[in-house]
Amino acid sequence: MSWNNIVTDILKVDYPIIQAPMLGVSTPEMAAAVSNAGGLGSLSVGGLSPAATRQLIHKTKSLTEKPFAVNLFAHQIPAYTEDDLEPMRTLLLQLANKRGYDLTGADLANFRFYNHLNQIDILIEEKISLVSFTFGCLDSGSIQALKQNACTLIGTATCVEEALFLQQQNIDMIVVQGIEAGGHRGTFLEDMPLPQVGLFSLLPQVKNAVRIPCIAAGGINSAETIKAAFELGAGGVQVGTAFIGTKESQAIASYKAKLNKAKDTDTTLTKAFSGRWARGIRNEMMHEIEQAGIHIPSYPLQNSLTATLRKLAQQNNDSEYTSLWAGQSAGKTGLMHTKEVFRNLVEQYEALYR
Ligand SMILES: Cc1cc2nc3c(=O)[nH]c(=O)nc-3n(C[C@H](O)[C@H](O)[C@H](O)COP(=O)(O)O)c2cc1C
Repeated sequence: MSWNNIVTDILKVDYPIIQAPMLGVSTPEMAAAVSNAGGLGSLSVGGLSPAATRQLIHKTKSLTEKPFAVNLFAHQIPAYTEDDLEPMRTLLLQLANKRGYDLTGADLANFRFYNHLNQIDILIEEKISLVSFTFGCLDSGSIQALKQNACTLIGTATCVEEALFLQQQNIDMIVVQGIEAGGHRGTFLEDMPLPQVGLFSLLPQVKNAVRIPCIAAGGINSAETIKAAFELGAGGVQVGTAFIGTKESQAIASYKAKLNKAKDTDTTLTKAFSGRWARGIRNEMMHEIEQAGIHIPSYPLQNSLTATLRKLAQQNNDSEYTSLWAGQSAGKTGLMHTKEVFRNLVEQYEALYR
């Protein structure tokens, strides 16, 4: 059997299998392992500083000579006053005290907010040829600048309208993100209820609506799910949760253990950690913030407000006070090398055709 198709041609890879960018979980080592194995690794730099962005790109380049995608967040940074954030800050202090964590110094005044606009020049200087993004669409100036530098652009859509919008902005490929997917929703069109469309429904509808290749994302973790995605019109797949348990992942041990035991119903959508809808395994911090009934500031404000508490929890291998992003097909994510997870997907898929 041959894996070659329009997506392998455009991405210049052997297999149309993309390791999902997973900020806080994926690493240069993970991205390089997938690219070296013939897939497309993704480096997450969404919302990071220009210096961190450049450093992670250099690290990834030192580990692979193959193409990899750099993933950006195309969000707006909202205006705010300190007063808007006070109730949430007070709640987080209470939660930290209850858990024995010291939040001294976790002042929002110390945070700097970045988005893709702070990173485009670096991507061009570093001659990055594949850029994926979520949380919105890049602005037309950035699209033009990247395209002038022969860059392929991959956007994220969670409904047909977003897919059409991305196509109209001259984006080359679309990650079609079903509601099963782990992590943040890529949703970006306002004035509509949160799209909650499952991949089985969404993919064929997007495929019928656009001319550009579609990459399926959400619940893909086996040969059979890859096959189903291709049958429904995908030219490639993007796999996230299945890589969280790997040795190259930054996820703490207790997160990996929870993931391995997760049932189909253990994840839910929440805004509690970041202010944007995202899917993760239920835990105490999610519950406490949601039950408090106070306003959750929008992304990236809430993300920054909760950052110190999540970091302290991670340092203590405490899975109750950090986000446990995962999709609905989270269970049985064993501790393997990224390369093995990737090879298993390829070999099991090929076995279906033998
Ligand atoms: C831990 C985690 C972090 C994620 N972070 C990002 C990110 O930084 N950028 C992005 O475009 N998508 C991100 N996603 C979403 C993935 O790109 C993808 O849509 C999702 O993982 C696919 O569903 P699956 O997890 O069921 O495989 C993340 C997903 C997870 C699980």
